[in-house]
Amino acid sequence: MERILVTGALGQIGSELVATLRERYGNENVIASDIKMPTADALAGAEPGFFEHVDCTNHDQIQQVVDRHRIDTIYHLAALLSAVAEERPQMAWEINMGGLYHVLEIARSNGCAVFTPSSIGAFGEGTPKDSTPQDTVQRPSTMYGVTKVAGELLCDYYHRRFGVDTRGVRYPGIISHVAPPGGGTTDYAVDIFYHAVRHGNFTSFLGPDTRLDMMYMPDAIKAAVDVMEAEAARLKHRNAFNVTAMNFTPEELAAAIRKVLPRFEIDYDVDPIRQRIADSWPNSLDDSAAREEWNWQPAFDLDSMVEDMLENISRKASREPADKA
Ligand code: SER
Repeated sequence: MERILVTGALGQIGSELVATLRERYGNENVIASDIKMPTADALAGAEPGFFEHVDCTNHDQIQQVVDRHRIDTIYHLAALLSAVAEERPQMAWEINMGGLYHVLEIARSNGCAVFTPSSIGAFGEGTPKDSTPQDTVQRPSTMYGVTKVAGELLCDYYHRRFGVDTRGVRYPGIISHVAPPGGGTTDYAVDIFYHAVRHGNFTSFLGPDTRLDMMYMPDAIKAAVDVMEAEAARLKHRNAFNVTAMNFTPEELAAAIRKVLPRFEIDYDVDPIRQRIADSWPNSLDDSAAREEWNWQPAFDLDSMVEDMLENISRKASREPADKA
């Protein structure tokens, strides 16, 4: 049985990936770690003892946890997202690249497999915007993008040079109702649901026609698990596969929400920094390599995602005090 370490386990993806990995591989075989300590309801259902405090910029801390739990697979999720990375580029380099470098070095000397998420942020100027191919120009204009491209290359290098089993996907914006994202350019597509349920309106920081790829969290989790379980012999690519499930603009998302909440209204107060980041990213990815090499297939489209999000957030809101913003 695999022994798994998840870094950044309290983040947007980690919070849900840990639960899925525990169901699949056994509670005792999945160690959650983060630089923050979990609150009482984070990692709900987790048994005590399987959380470790790990700062991924500290090589020795990661190594100690790998030794203590005899880890053989690392899902390395600890990273800064695009908007916050643009505010603090030096810190983003240190965390996104420094953390990955330590994880890869530890994987090399301990024989671990590594999953690393890349992003639509790994694309930029010169990249074809529609049906962005798997293999194409990658000249991002953000520090986040620079760390994602460098990360993809470093993972490929560790595979070729040292035989480390590195794999990854390029995630689009991820939408979920469990843990909030923090500091991403695609966060509007999560915030909009909370505002729709609580206030019936939303002010978007991206303009009405900004088209981006998106994915509902159950599919994002499935992508991580499926690429790690894929038969190695079928993989022509490793880091990182384009994956997508849908693409839409804020206007189209608002229209889909209106099918369930007809009185929902959207307006715009564009944030120039996040708009510039979004404008540098693709409109839609071509994910045929993932479909061919490991049978990638998302389950949720725009309408089914919207229905599920609204149902879950309404349920959450009904349990909250009335004055909660
Ligand atoms: N969701 C991410 C962000 O907006 C994209 O990878 O930063």
